[in-house]
Amino acid sequence: MALLDILTFPDPRLRTKAKPINEFTDELNTFIDDMFETMYDAPGIGLAATQVNFHKQLVVIDVSEDKSEPYCFINPEITHKEGAEVCQEGCLSVPEFFADVTRAENITVKALDRNGKAFELEADGLLAVCIQHELDHLNGKLFVDYLSPLKQQRLRKKMEKLAKQKASA
Ligand code: NI
Repeated sequence: MALLDILTFPDPRLRTKAKPINEFTDELNTFIDDMFETMYDAPGIGLAATQVNFHKQLVVIDVSEDKSEPYCFINPEITHKEGAEVCQEGCLSVPEFFADVTRAENITVKALDRNGKAFELEADGLLAVCIQHELDHLNGKLFVDYLSPLKQQRLRKKMEKLAKQKASA
């Protein structure tokens, strides 16, 4: 297995819209394992393929504390949304930044698993928030897009400064 490089905001590749997956190959399975390893190593609770520069509809999620609830969603689609809740979110592509975002409280999502088998899941709480956040990535959307323009501008400057420091270090 291998750790994958995670793109960071404001990298324009994070704005790519992911395409559906039609083939379930050994290569795809290995890549999914690499995504889980990369997510656990970061550490994070969710990772979309977009974030590792693979522009297919694939996300991995595990909101448990002991890596016991790994979920892989391929070609996911939210079929039902209900309620609203505010949750503080972060993102592996926006390191060291957290902000409140309003999301649906209960969702139903349908997707394919890593073998191409269809399943449906009802989620609430942190899992529901995480699924909505990761599915946004597949549409080229980031949680910081929900912030006011002024806050987005400040964040962009901060991230560009950090990137420069990193490049010159
Ligand atoms: Ni994210």
